[in-house]
Amino acid sequence: MLISRALRLLRYSPVLINRKNLSEQRHGNNHVDLRLKSINDTHVTLIIDGKELKYDWIFLRDSCQCHQCIDSSSKQKLHRTTDIPLNISPHETKIQVLDNNNLEIVWNQPLLNQTKNIGKHQSLYSSSWLRTYSTSENIARARYNDRPYVYWTRNNIQHVDLHVKCDDYLHSDQGLYTVLKLLNDYGIAFIDNVRGEFTVERLVERIGEIRHTFYGKTWNVQNVKQAINVAYTSVELGLHMDLLYFEAPPGLQYLHSLANDVKGGASYYADAFRAAEILRQNDPEAFEILCSYPVTFHYRNVGRHYHFTRSTIVLDRFSSNNCIDHINYAPPFQAPFECDTSKPEFRKFIQAFHSFRDLLEDSSNQLEILLEKDQCVIFHNRRVLHARREFDASSGNRWLKGSYTDLDNFKDRLRIFREKFDKVSHLEL
Ligand SMILES: [Fe+2]
Repeated sequence: MLISRALRLLRYSPVLINRKNLSEQRHGNNHVDLRLKSINDTHVTLIIDGKELKYDWIFLRDSCQCHQCIDSSSKQKLHRTTDIPLNISPHETKIQVLDNNNLEIVWNQPLLNQTKNIGKHQSLYSSSWLRTYSTSENIARARYNDRPYVYWTRNNIQHVDLHVKCDDYLHSDQGLYTVLKLLNDYGIAFIDNVRGEFTVERLVERIGEIRHTFYGKTWNVQNVKQAINVAYTSVELGLHMDLLYFEAPPGLQYLHSLANDVKGGASYYADAFRAAEILRQNDPEAFEILCSYPVTFHYRNVGRHYHFTRSTIVLDRFSSNNCIDHINYAPPFQAPFECDTSKPEFRKFIQAFHSFRDLLEDSSNQLEILLEKDQCVIFHNRRVLHARREFDASSGNRWLKGSYTDLDNFKDRLRIFREKFDKVSHLEL
């Protein structure tokens, strides 16, 4: 009943109609046309740039950005979503578009944990904020998560300049931003003229904190006797990702070449996102089974016992187009399968796994490069597979120093630098 009265009031209130007309003016640089259409028990319907959009009262109350709702110092929320009464709505139709193009709502009741005498709570939402939250694409842009990946093959990546000088990367924002963009777009970048045994630590820290693992803060890839990892030998090491037996494998891997004058030992890389997308197009059933079939990884050696089970392809299930979030592929670190392999799905998975392997192993899909002394490669360990050809350990010295950082640190820097260099001014949060 209250709502039907509200709808009548909305329709006939001269004040609101005037406000509506005013709101049609364009304000500043935002150019957002915001109008109020109707309200009901659970939603308001707004017209934003001619498009009809619904916003739930609970979403709006929960997202209030005022200083009573967001701590001005920590920028953190001061209430829980579950503190909002289920029947919250505007107090007696107190919802309007103000002259400054903000939507004002005065709420009909306080939050569940608030005591009386607090007064009616007023929330303001800018038209650009409302527009940002109108589509997942706008949210992605506002979060600087919308830079697309460039899938690559040997042919097309050899025309891309993947190299940045160490000094530029360490000392210029533009140099760092170039590397961040390469890592986003292609999942791989090379830093040249890197000198000094421990400089790789500075290279990592330019993006984020070093991810310390049981291999150490940094680790040496050298041919050693009684190696604790196949990487520390001279044999061919096929395409793989590192540390998939961890719950959260590191997102960026750095390998700095301190010496490389052996016969053999070239590195090669493959874009697993591209391989997965080709499989999705050509064989959707194989793609699906790789998205769900459990593969176990482990490391059980030298007093350690790590273990994790995951599917080969992981989708971002919150994205509108089911895009690939990451890949899990590391044959040397697989454990025996722990699911029921007597079921027919196992053979279906194996067939799909073969198709995926064929795409990855196709040399026309690989970038092969000998990492020269004083070069450091950085690659996205959840997208780009890495491998090494066998080398003759007696022919010289091959010494790489490696280190990791988490993908969170990379994405944080990329957002900050995109905001600095490519600000999305019309979609401010
Ligand atoms: Fe590796």
